Amino acid sequence: MKQKEITIRYNEYTSKELSTLQSNLIKQSVKAQESSHSPYSNFRVGAAILLDSGEIILGSNQENAAYPSGLCAERVAIYTCGSNHPTKIIKLIAISASSSQFDINEVLAPCGACRQSMLEFEHKQKADIKVLLKGADGQVVEFNSIKDLLPIPFNCDELQNVS
Ligand code: THU
Repeated sequence: MKQKEITIRYNEYTSKELSTLQSNLIKQSVKAQESSHSPYSNFRVGAAILLDSGEIILGSNQENAAYPSGLCAERVAIYTCGSNHPTKIIKLIAISASSSQFDINEVLAPCGACRQSMLEFEHKQKADIKVLLKGADGQVVEFNSIKDLLPIPFNCDELQNVS
């Protein structure tokens, strides 16, 4: 038996340490929360994606009375990119959350399904996507790649060769 280890490096910034670009994208993710449809959870999530063209694409969580029919903010935003900007490279995604009912004291870490969905885009565009997660007190956590959020992923290249 061999014991193996995976190390993930990520950056933590105070609000003062953020670049203008990072700070702007975080602000856009907060703006995206305005269109959240979340009457069931009262948990508003916003995602802002920066494309290589400089365009910023927003998405927010969209809930449904039939709960599983809803969709997370990250997937709303990234599928909007896939649908409307299929040839553009996704550089960065900023994610934030808020609630009128309770305090959110930790960064919003994307759910597993969103990580898998975002990984597909990284694979498709053959370039890493950075992730910025907004925490309390202006603190922001940055991951350099979706792979860092989903180590040992399901990623079957052979599926593409099935005819
Ligand atoms: N949600 C997101 O939008 N993104 C995540 O990564 C986690 C959860 C949404 C789904 C649902 O509308 C609400 O947050 C509560 O789970």
